[in-house]
This record gives sequence, C-alpha cells and structure tokens, in this order.
Amino acid sequence: MTMHNKTIAIVGATGAVGQTMLEILAERRVPAANLVALASERSAGSFVDYGEDELLVHDLAGFDPAGVDIALFSAGGDTARRYAPTFAQAGAVVIDNSSAFRHDDDVPLVVSEVNPEAVAKRPRGIIANPNCSTMQLVVALAPIHRAAGIERVNVTTYQSVSGAGGSGLEELGRQTAALLSFQDAEPQTFPVQIAFNLIPQIDAFLDNGYTREEMKVVRETRKILGDDAIRVSATAVRVPVFYGHSEAVSIETREPITADAVRALLRAAPGIEVVDDPAAEEVAKRWPTPVTHASGKDPVYVGRIRQDLSHERGIVLWVVADNIRKGAALNAVQLAELVAAEGRARIES
Ligand code: A2P
Repeated sequence: MTMHNKTIAIVGATGAVGQTMLEILAERRVPAANLVALASERSAGSFVDYGEDELLVHDLAGFDPAGVDIALFSAGGDTARRYAPTFAQAGAVVIDNSSAFRHDDDVPLVVSEVNPEAVAKRPRGIIANPNCSTMQLVVALAPIHRAAGIERVNVTTYQSVSGAGGSGLEELGRQTAALLSFQDAEPQTFPVQIAFNLIPQIDAFLDNGYTREEMKVVRETRKILGDDAIRVSATAVRVPVFYGHSEAVSIETREPITADAVRALLRAAPGIEVVDDPAAEEVAKRWPTPVTHASGKDPVYVGRIRQDLSHERGIVLWVVADNIRKGAALNAVQLAELVAAEGRARIES
C-alpha cells in the first residue's frame, strides 16, 4: 500500500477529527512508526490511541517538519495559517481541514469521489478539505449535476454537535445529564442550551443575513463542482445529535430528470448508499438517520428521493453522513491516499 512508506504527521491529533484520522489510518494498517502525533503545548507528553498502540503527542510549536511527507491538519484555521506553509516549505503535502485556505485559487478543494484529479494542482503544497456539510452535499449532487446539470440548490442542514469539536460533544452530554437531574444546562460552547433544543445559527452572521457556515456551503459547492453558475442557498441548524449531519436538499436541474433516474444514478455512484424504500417493513430500509445509519460509517446515505411537487425540474433528497468520518477525517485520509499514489509525496516548487 502506497501510504505505508510515507511519514505522516497528524496535526490536532488529540481533537475529535484527529482521533478519527488515527482510527482510519489504523484500519488501513499504516505502521505506527510512520506517524507523528502533534497538538498544542498543553497536550505534549500525553498519548493518543493508535489501534493496539499508543502515540506520544508532540508540541506542534517546537516540531521540525523536515522529513514529513504528508501532514493532515485538523487544528483550526489559525493553527493552519501559522504552520501549514512551514510544513509545505519543508516538503510535506498539507491536507488541511480548516477553512483557512479553501477559497484560495491556488489551493484545490477536493472531495475524493467528486474531483480527485484536483489534488495534483497544488502549487503551494496545500490541499483543502471541505466543510463537513458541503462534503456530503456534493457527493450526492455530483452525479446529478453530471447527468442533468444543477441550476439551484436549497439546503437545510441538521448538524450534530461533534462538528464543534470535542467541546461540543462534551457540552451535549453534560447538559443532557444535568437537565435529567433537574439541574441547569450551562451553555459554554453553544450560545444557548443545545440539549433538547436546536439552534439556527452556526458561526457568525455576515452582512447578507447568512452565517459564515451557510456561506461556506454556497462557495465550496461551486468550487468543488467547478460551476459558479449554480445558485445555492443554505440554512444551517445545530441539533442535539452527537455524530452525523443530515440535510434536506431541494434541487432544480437544468434538464428534466425523474426521481427514479436520480435513484439509479445515486445507487451507482461511489461513496453513496441509497436507503429509500418508504414501503419497507424494516424501518432501517425506509430512510437513513444519523444514529441508525451514518454514525461511525463511511458512506453518504441518501433517502426520501422524490419529485418536487412545487417545481417541474425539482428533486428533493435527504442526505446523511458521519460528519467526522466522511465529513472530515475519512476524506482527508482519502486525499492522502491519492497523493501517496502519485509516487511522489513531495512537491517540486
Ligand atoms: P489540544 O488538545 O492540545 O488543544 P477539537 O476540534 O476537537 O476541539 O480539537 C482541536 C485540535 O487542535 C486538538 O488536537 C488541539 O490540541 C489542536 N490545537 C488547537 N490549537 C492548537 C495549537 N495552537 N497548536 C497545536 N494544536 C492545536
């Protein structure tokens, strides 16, 4: 396997995404000796699990990146802006999960099933991993876009707390336990109580009335599908689910396409599992949910595929995926595999 002779740094190894990256690398049996776990100074000296092994965590600030072939960054935008260029200059290919570089023209934004060829065009040695909501959306949209052209997308997201990192997971658990014991839920990571509630704001508001999270979906969808003409509107909502984002998606295509044709296209598409049998006796076959289908799994699950009653070229979908796996860690590892398969992880600049 091509990744097995590369030195891979995991930046943010103690975080929710970083730990899942390690799980996925362990599933792929990448030797522990090839990995370097990095985090902030406060975690240096601790250990993170790696399959049967443990990896010592090093302080990113004092680490010399010389000799690293591929660096998987999931430590936020500020850390990426500060350290990713240094890793790239030292010869590593950086795959960054933050939004720091996603809109830079000279940084490809790549989903392994949608535009894998774009990883090769990385003049700065940096490849960006999309936002988790965009990721699962474009996996479902790409086959439809190729077949019928997408004119417009209207998506509402139902995003789990793990999207806010380890502190989001902790907060939902803590508030749920507190409320069930008749104590107050004290918000820290989220602006108000998230347990038994939902919150129609993720990230800061912008002047146009949308949030930053919503505008990420708009801009990233266009960049990944390579079509600035696609009109996109998003409403991003945080819900009290631990793992797995869901999306209600309304699409208007350029050419007419039936729901049956969309179902067939998606069944044949890589990375997608169609769960769409409303008449099924077994409830798990009717439609996917984050808990029953997506959590801890790799595919993007699509159900509720139907013709939009309100538009002659409209299709409606329900799209569910594990936001930490396909939405972040898995895609990053898949991009690393694409890079490793090139036979040269180092960029000639
Ligand atoms: P640490 O655990 O030492 O704070 P999450 O998204 O789950 O909150 O995780 C964020 C990840 O990014 C953690 O591994 C965290 O390490 C890491 N991180 C945050 N800030 C820095 C920094 N300045 N330098 C290195 N790693 C950082």
